Amino acid sequence: MSAVLEATRKIEDYLVLSDEELSARIEAAREELGSRVVILGHHYQRDDVIKHADLTGDSYQLSVMAAERTDAEYIVFCGVHFMAESASILGEPRQRVVLPDMGAGCSMADMANIDQVEDAWEQLAEIGLLDKFKIAPMTYMNSTAAIKAFCGRNGGVVCTSSNAVPLFDIYLKEYDKMMFFPDQHLGRNTGLKFGIPLDKMALWDPHKELGGNTEEELREARLILWKGHCSVHSRFKPWHVDQIRKDHPGMKILVHPECMYEVVEKSDLNGSTSFIINTVENAPDGSAWAIGTELNLVNRLIKNHPEQNIRLLAPDLCMCATMYRISPQSLAWALENLLNGVVVNEIKVEGETKRLATVALERMISLTEKKN
Ligand code: 13P
Ligand code: SF4
Repeated sequence: MSAVLEATRKIEDYLVLSDEELSARIEAAREELGSRVVILGHHYQRDDVIKHADLTGDSYQLSVMAAERTDAEYIVFCGVHFMAESASILGEPRQRVVLPDMGAGCSMADMANIDQVEDAWEQLAEIGLLDKFKIAPMTYMNSTAAIKAFCGRNGGVVCTSSNAVPLFDIYLKEYDKMMFFPDQHLGRNTGLKFGIPLDKMALWDPHKELGGNTEEELREARLILWKGHCSVHSRFKPWHVDQIRKDHPGMKILVHPECMYEVVEKSDLNGSTSFIINTVENAPDGSAWAIGTELNLVNRLIKNHPEQNIRLLAPDLCMCATMYRISPQSLAWALENLLNGVVVNEIKVEGETKRLATVALERMISLTEKKN
């Protein structure tokens, strides 16, 4: 057996530890690693993980933090795969990015792969749309590095739920059309904010010829929306909003823009995870909120704001099971392996994909900063 394999600690050994032991060992490892490691945590992480994060944020803020923390040798990402990939793209080549559980993916990001995206673009070219119109590809952060690179190569950009509006503003002024991957709901909700009618938005189903559209429909469309969605946010339905309005008059409805537009249009406010947190934090005591986003975040808001009346918008559990894969067990395992000099579950984006995805991500950051 090689020396490295011998030094590698096994995840099984962590499954039997108590919560207290895990917490103590994570803190001890953090202390010993010091500034060599930075732990980033997305707002959907569970309490027993997020309490160990050095920095927390929405997906835009986390990408900026990853780009800025060039001093840390290791970035341990408590979030999902596409977030860790973005950290690897924006970080320095010498930095190592670790995702404590490789099962922490995103079902929405899995709904578009690069072959399907290239094929869709080719089909648009074949019917002459790319010659006739200026079309920009834009991808939601929740997508693979390869799709981000595709956008970088074709004049496009990445966006998140916190900067979709300013980026749409820039791109809609410069381009005749946009193709938006992979979240149809964020694309539709943002397009509606710019007054684009629903009949000027085509839905692209990657399993159908021309995405299931006629050439005429694609010619007429201002937005071509990829047929992807978030399985967590799609649980919020318009009748949940109606029920809250009936049972709790005066309660405000605050949702994430990954919810379907029939929910967003009935809500009072919508925005990114940080927007949701800031809205609640800045509201006067006694405010009442029904929140349409991931369960762990809503539960944390309920716990941290006893002075407000907060509830989940839907009666059923809206938990992101893949975010939940990051556990104190996997975090302790990843950190103690780093102490041993072993980098487990490394996420690395390299070569042309890294170069072109950097173009799309850096474009996002510079355009967002310009607009702020
Ligand atoms: P935010 O960018 O708002 O944090 O959202 C990320 C995400 O995956 C929501 O489902
Ligand atoms: Fe992906 Fe939805 Fe989970 Fe966000 S909440 S990481 S979009 S599956």
